[in-house]
Amino acid sequence: MSEKRRIVVTSALPYANGDIHLGHLVEYIQTDFWVRFQKMRGNDCVYICADDTHGTPIMIRANKEGITPEQLIARSHALHLKDFTDFEVAFDNYYSTNSPENKAFSEQFFAAMEKSGAVTKQTSPQLYCARCKMFLPDRFVKGVCPKCGAENQYGDSCDKCGATYAADELGHPVCTTCGGTPVVKDSEHLYFELEPQHDYLREWIPGHTTSDVSNKLLEWFNEPLRSWCISRAAPYFGFQIPGYPDKYFYVWVDAPIGYLASLKNWCESHGEKFEDWWQNPKAERYHFIGKDIIRFHCLFWPGMLHAAGFEQPNKIFVHGFLTVNGEKMSKSKGTFVNARTYLDHLPASALRYYYACKLGGTTDDMDLNLQDFVQRVNGDMVGKITNLASRGAQMLNKSLEGRLGTMDDEGRKLVDLARSRADVIARHYEDRRFSQVPVEVAKIADAANEYFDARAPWKTVKDPAGAETTRVTLTTILNVFRILAIYLKPILPAYSEKVAALFGESSYMWADVQKTVENIKIGAYEYLATRIDAKQVEAMVEKAKEKPADSGEVAHESRASKNKAERTAAKAEAAPAAAAEAPALKPEIAFDDFEKLDLRIAKVVACETVPKSSKLLKFDLDCGVLGHRTIFSGIRGAYPDPAALVGREVLFVANLAPRKMSVGVSEGMILFAGEPGVNGGVLSPIVEAGAGTPAT
Ligand code: 2FM
Ligand code: ZN
Repeated sequence: MSEKRRIVVTSALPYANGDIHLGHLVEYIQTDFWVRFQKMRGNDCVYICADDTHGTPIMIRANKEGITPEQLIARSHALHLKDFTDFEVAFDNYYSTNSPENKAFSEQFFAAMEKSGAVTKQTSPQLYCARCKMFLPDRFVKGVCPKCGAENQYGDSCDKCGATYAADELGHPVCTTCGGTPVVKDSEHLYFELEPQHDYLREWIPGHTTSDVSNKLLEWFNEPLRSWCISRAAPYFGFQIPGYPDKYFYVWVDAPIGYLASLKNWCESHGEKFEDWWQNPKAERYHFIGKDIIRFHCLFWPGMLHAAGFEQPNKIFVHGFLTVNGEKMSKSKGTFVNARTYLDHLPASALRYYYACKLGGTTDDMDLNLQDFVQRVNGDMVGKITNLASRGAQMLNKSLEGRLGTMDDEGRKLVDLARSRADVIARHYEDRRFSQVPVEVAKIADAANEYFDARAPWKTVKDPAGAETTRVTLTTILNVFRILAIYLKPILPAYSEKVAALFGESSYMWADVQKTVENIKIGAYEYLATRIDAKQVEAMVEKAKEKPADSGEVAHESRASKNKAERTAAKAEAAPAAAAEAPALKPEIAFDDFEKLDLRIAKVVACETVPKSSKLLKFDLDCGVLGHRTIFSGIRGAYPDPAALVGREVLFVANLAPRKMSVGVSEGMILFAGEPGVNGGVLSPIVEAGAGTPAT
């Protein structure tokens, strides 16, 4: 028996001024899978979280509602916790960053950081609203974009042209709270110096997150790390910084410290010592986060922990964003769905099952395709897996007094097969390849369904002489099903509890896979999962359209916007706010990324339509020294007569990896701009036709 592990697991702390939505749940549900799996393995694992309660948006929202920030965060806490509980997300502690533990830790961190010389003071110009008597965070000021002149743009970036700038560069700035005109005022702030930790962090990062994340982060280490602004001016809802009466800790300082505070609070109510968990080198600590908050967790947070002498997390697990039907969640399309709206129409277990099917433990975005969702839940979770139990248990109860018999050799073989996948499935859980669990489970269920059909218990049960054969068949089916319910327990906890109750057992542990149930009476069959109807999904979507979801993140000063102080702190990862509607512009790319493109000129030798495709055109390009290339391009709508393109010179990306499409392999990408046929089309080189040398 391997040694019991001691593990602290966290999910990012949701802001107290927004509802929980399906995008958030991608994170909490997967963290919950992992934690439940660890507990089933017998490890000492605690799942820690809290509401992220500080910052200007919370203060302003409370103000608007005519309540105190404390009242607002108390209300959110209750609502969030109810949503999570109803989605079977089981925190060991769901606390608040507005807690005495967090205040004490934040002060301790600050004192240690200051003592180590890592805190400096800098003065910078910022917009100040005299009417609101406050410095304005970027999302609380709007004006004219200094680059393109678009009106009504936020203080950090322009929705129209994508430019990023400082709020004081906006033309005709307006305070979004009161409509007044802010003025530029110098403001002194406290900064956390990261450069002294340059070498330490560069070494630390690669071992503590996946290579795609760390490679991205390490790009910032080619130049000195910039300091990070950690203070905010009064009025601010947060913790006052000791020794600086008019300054508060920036919300992103005390938010990750909130992990420690929540853990400490849990320790105190469970007779445990904080030091044995966080400060114990033998204990393990993991953060699950979305890719929009990487720099806070993989740069600033380890920097703070190091400066303050705390243990580091063992790993930071980063996941991608949620899309719905292949697109960003959209309020107008009804795909920006709050947790509660979902729960009012559909069972939590269905979403948990579907998310499991889609989560591969990478930073790739994850799509909730609503049609596929209905099909997978009905086809696999209900049709393939649950049907084994409903048919088996109901027949046993109805016709054979609910008594299991003894399996024959054929039955034992099938059960052994099911059991033999335990280690493989455990590995998938451990490595967060959750999508492989339903795949493994479905394979076993297929074998069990084949066995069921071949033995045709519905026939043998009708023959009085066939009763015992039927009992053997059903005993086998129910044993296999029981094992599947154990494998699925981290994903479908309530479901698995009902299965345990059916067999008169208590909550399953992973080791229970090894047991066999024979010659016992089973309990009454309680329904485990029912088919969902596309109409339920439609109704949910309609409801979600009705009242726009209120996403706290969009307005909050961290994810969607980076204020000036932050911009000087570190390069932002160019990611949109999780699951929020953002401008259509793609995330900004670094010059290094652009430089990777090998753009060349080629001549269109032939261009034809592709059978059965209304979108594609097939190009044969003469690429000079590179020879000929075949490229498929989805531009047919704009070029009804593809022959018109023959002889044209085009720009194309020559070093794009060949892409296998259903119609053939595409060996590059032709560049287009604007709306083809309206104000754009195939991009031709700027040189006169014939003057350029192809593929230079
Ligand atoms: O981005 C967010 O939603 C933040 N509230 C996450 C904070 S995570 C941690 F640092 F507390
Ligand atoms: Zn104002």
